[in-house]
Amino acid sequence: MKNLNIGLVGYGFMGRTHSNAFLQAPRYFDLPYRPVLKAVAARNKERVEKFAANWGYQSYETVWRKLIDRKDIDVIDIASPNDTHKEIAIAAAQAGKMVMCEKPLGRTADEATAMVAAVEAANVPNTVWYNYRRVPAVFLIKELLDEGKFGRVFHYRAQFLQDWTISQDLPQGGEGLWRLDVSVAGSGVTGDLLAHNIDTALWLNGAITEVSAMTETFIKERKHTLTGKVEPVGIDDASAVLCRFENGSLGMFEATRYARGHKALYTLEINGEKTSARWDLHDLHRLQYFDHRDEGRVRGWRSVHITDGDQPYMKHWWVPGLQIGYEHTFIHQFADFVEAAAKGKALPPTFRDGLATDFVTDAILKSAKTRQWETVGK
Ligand SMILES: NC(=O)c1ccc[n+]([C@@H]2O[C@H](COP(=O)([O-])OP(=O)(O)OC[C@H]3O[C@@H](n4cnc5c(N)ncnc54)[C@H](O)[C@@H]3O)[C@@H](O)[C@H]2O)c1
Repeated sequence: MKNLNIGLVGYGFMGRTHSNAFLQAPRYFDLPYRPVLKAVAARNKERVEKFAANWGYQSYETVWRKLIDRKDIDVIDIASPNDTHKEIAIAAAQAGKMVMCEKPLGRTADEATAMVAAVEAANVPNTVWYNYRRVPAVFLIKELLDEGKFGRVFHYRAQFLQDWTISQDLPQGGEGLWRLDVSVAGSGVTGDLLAHNIDTALWLNGAITEVSAMTETFIKERKHTLTGKVEPVGIDDASAVLCRFENGSLGMFEATRYARGHKALYTLEINGEKTSARWDLHDLHRLQYFDHRDEGRVRGWRSVHITDGDQPYMKHWWVPGLQIGYEHTFIHQFADFVEAAAKGKALPPTFRDGLATDFVTDAILKSAKTRQWETVGK
């Protein structure tokens, strides 16, 4: 079997979820290539060395460009902050390497457009880590929609709620807090949390044509970790969106880091003519499902435990009744990526899919500024 030599950039939160996926995927999926943890790159020598030893990487670099120059790397995996995605992805594609990139693809649709052009010109397999598509319960909603179980869809609503930036004392910028620095992150919750909601929505319910949004920055100044000075905050702390889908349905989205008590509450609901489905990240192995065609006397919301072998991805795991978790979404996406890569194909969500989400988030941020409905770019 041929090796698939991986070069990872960034050893933070996502560096860990991805490394776990590279190690676990071949144990549970019958993959056409053998993943090899060839090298990891990050700037701090001591820490990158420790990370490499912990996860079993054969080598490390302190400059990401060294990974691109190395002939023994087949795929570059970008798990570093948003301001690094474009440069690394384009360099990797131009060197003929496959590219996996964390979300959001670019900080703006302009950045993402250049990234799409690079991977498509080089014709290299690519994917964006919008991992929630591969929660078995969410994947099942997609299957049910494609089978026409919902009939016409009227409503799509989703939220992503957190509460970790409420304190005025929290600084912005630097390690761990780059999400609060607009120059690094590109935007606040719109490009970070809401982007997940949008990617899943586009996949399940099709294109969004126009949006009307409001955003708010509740805390206007924070000390910057790197300069030590109090500086204006440029990110959106909360984002609320109304939209229209191409299929005629209406969408409502909300993301915030100011919903006290909520840590990572991603919920989505679809209301169709015949059925409705609801999913919640805090109870991710369950699908709430209502079918109006059930016999009236016993009709109601079903809470389906997604653990059986005929439900998406579950045949790769334990016995019916035993559930899986967050890290498995990355294992599923990586396993699917390797399958696609062996055929020379990009894996949805591809860079082009990631661009579609960036077009929507750009329109949301524009609408919040203009206070007008805005058409989503293409
Ligand atoms: N798919 C998801 O659910 C999900 C969840 C969290 C984060 N993300 C995305 O993943 C990316 C990374 O986020 P994170 O939470 O892992 O961040 P993090 O801060 O935990 O880790 C970032 C890593 O990148 C490294 N880094 C920064 N600049 C670098 C450079 N120039 N060269 C090499 N390494 C560099 C840092 O040292 C660190 O190791 C972001 O784009 C973020 O939006 C996605």
